[in-house]
Order: sequence, then structure tokens, then C-alpha cells
Amino acid sequence: MKLPQNKQPRSCVLVTGGCGFIGTNYILREIERRNVKIVNLDKCAYSANPQNLAAAEKTDRYTLVQGDICDIDLMGDLLNDVRPAAIVHFAAESHVDRSISGPEIFVQTNMVGTSRLLEATRRHWSKLGAEEQSSFRFLHVSTDEVFGSLGADDPAFTEETPYAPNSPYSASKAASDHMVRAYHHTYGLPTLVTNCSNNYGPFQFPEKLIPLMIRNAMAGLKLPIYGDGLNVRDWLYVGDHCDAIATVLDRGRCGETYNIGGHAERTNRQVVETVCRLLDERAPLGHGKWYSDQVAFVTDRLGHDRRYAVNTEKIERELGWKPTVSFEQGMSETVQWYLDQRAWVSSVTTGEYRNWISRQYESLQTA
Ligand code: DAU
Repeated sequence: MKLPQNKQPRSCVLVTGGCGFIGTNYILREIERRNVKIVNLDKCAYSANPQNLAAAEKTDRYTLVQGDICDIDLMGDLLNDVRPAAIVHFAAESHVDRSISGPEIFVQTNMVGTSRLLEATRRHWSKLGAEEQSSFRFLHVSTDEVFGSLGADDPAFTEETPYAPNSPYSASKAASDHMVRAYHHTYGLPTLVTNCSNNYGPFQFPEKLIPLMIRNAMAGLKLPIYGDGLNVRDWLYVGDHCDAIATVLDRGRCGETYNIGGHAERTNRQVVETVCRLLDERAPLGHGKWYSDQVAFVTDRLGHDRRYAVNTEKIERELGWKPTVSFEQGMSETVQWYLDQRAWVSSVTTGEYRNWISRQYESLQTA
């Protein structure tokens, strides 16, 4: 029997960075929904958690390979062995604050790593037959931060917005996007690039705003809001993002870039208020206490981008994708997930995490 089109995916997909937050959600979704094999290449650095993928491991369609995208020989051998029909490239250093305190690893992983992965892929792809070459895809997962910062009334970023990255993180992602573009233009490698807004949802490492606030609130710690808390981000539920990636991989046009957003602009104050309200409802402190009592306005992030907003007309028009999870629904599910997964939170907030939190937050002044 022939499987229907959407159940008949590529035979094997190589995912990089699949033990991180978005990669984990993507692999779990793909393994559950499609008859696909996934090989996950992950360095297993500080924010990666192989246990996230326990459900995938129970199938015979998932394999974890521990290794670094900077190791071009390893990448070459892996591509020869696996012969993937597509690569979905998530592996990246992604925390802006860490890029401010130490840019070098961002240059290494995001710029050098992506370049080496592209080169290994080009060598492999150039030896394939014509049919395999034309169906092959290299999908690079990137960020809206490459476009810089918007003023309150500026129109949202489109795919044509000029790049203007402001942090070492976004500069390193911009450089990697340019390398992907160059490999398409120069060698004809069938590439796709996605630029997404701020993701949130299950399995996000608690150094980013939403899980950090949930974790701190539950632990009775301060909720540190940078500056005046009026910076705006567009919030995209990770499940919607993963659907968008799958859609672009299936139907995106090679050489194109697609913006992905959640249609949910919120100030950081609004985000933290939402976390506090949901926790007050579900895990009340009692004794006249509220989670919002823990909010502290602290020294602003250096070079802090004021606003991001994403115009998603292109992916909606061309590929028929749009976000389906509202901010309210996504936040409700996310807060509940963290309440239910206290053991997971404890398991990922050990030594390295605690060192980072004390380095990052102890020196910040409270307003
Ligand atoms: O826009 C997409 C990008 O979103 C991704 O490419 C990045 O990998 C991802 O980290 C995210 O970047 P942000 O810098 O916007 O995310 P973060 O969660 O670090 O911060 C969100 C906002 O919250 C930002 O305005 C800074 C603020 N913030 C963050 C932290 C960690 C605080 O006020 N306090 C905090 O403790």
C-alpha cells in the first residue's frame, strides 16, 4: 500500500542540535507524526539534554550521534554513512546574554560550524545522482534578530528587510545565513532558511526569559526584568514553529528565506505578568503573597534590542502555514508543563547552570 503524500516523508533526515529546545520538539513531533528516520548530531553541550528524546529512543527510527559540526571529517563520514535526504540545522549557541559575556564560542559554533557543515554537505551532495541532488534539502534554522531592532511604529520584518544584527549572537547567526545563501548561489546547494521570532514551550532551557521566570518564581527567587521591561518580542509557540519548519522542508522553494512568527507581540512586563498570573492560579503562594511581589527591575542588557516583529505573509501565502496557538493558550500549556516537570527543571539546573546564573545576575543592580 502506498502511504499518502504527507505520510511518505524523506527516508532519513539528519538533524543537528536535536538535544536542544527547538530540536527536541521538532524530533519528537516528526517521529510521532511521520514514518521518518532521524539521526541527531549533537555536541551535548550545556543546554542539550539527550533524555528529552526518551520517547524517540523507544522507536527504531531515532539515533543520537555525539559530535561537533565543526569537525568536518566527522560530518563527512556521517553523511556517507547516513546518506540523509535532508539536513535540518538547529545546532547553535543561542543565548544573547552569553554572547555578550563571551562572543568567541558563538563565532566558533554558529559561523565556523555552519561553514564546515555546509562544506561537508556540498562535498557529499556533489557526488549524488541527479535525482537525489535535486530532492536534497539543507534547511538552516535562524532568527529574526538578524534584522536588528524596530521602533514602536516600524513595520514588522519581512524577508526583504536589510540585515542589521546588533549582538554578537545575532551577528554570528547573520554570518551563518549569508554562508547558506552563498552555498546556494555559488554551488547550487538546495538550501532553505527560516528566520523565527522568540520561541517558548516545553523543554526550553531556563536561561531564556519565560522558563527562567517560571523557574525563579517557583523557587522563590527574584524575577529579574532588564531595564524598563518595555522591550517587545513576538512570541511563537514551539509546536507552531516545528510545523512551519516541516512545511518549509516539504514545500519551500530552494534558495528562499521564510520568516516565521507567532502574531503575538508582548512587552517583557506583559510576559512576566502572564507567568505570575498563571502561577497565582495554579500554585498559589497563599498568606496574601503574589508571584509579582518577586519582580525586580535590574540593570539593562548591553545593546538591548527594543522591539522585534515578524511579517509572516510570505509563508502564509506561499506555503499555507500560519500560527495556530495563541499566546494565552501557549503560555497556559507552558506554565503547566513546567509545574508538572519539576524533576526535569531540577535535573537541568545543576552546576553549570548555577554558575551562569550567579555570574550573570549577581552583579546586576536592582532599580
Ligand atoms: O528573536 C529570536 C531570538 O529570541 C532567538 O534567536 C534567541 O536564540 C532567543 O534567545 C531569543 O532572544 P532574546 O534575547 O529576545 O530572548 P531572551 O529570552 O534572552 O530575552 C527575551 C527578552 O527578555 C529580552 O528583551 C531580554 C529580556 N530578559 C531576558 C532575561 C533572560 C529579561 O528582562 N530578563 C532576563 O533575565
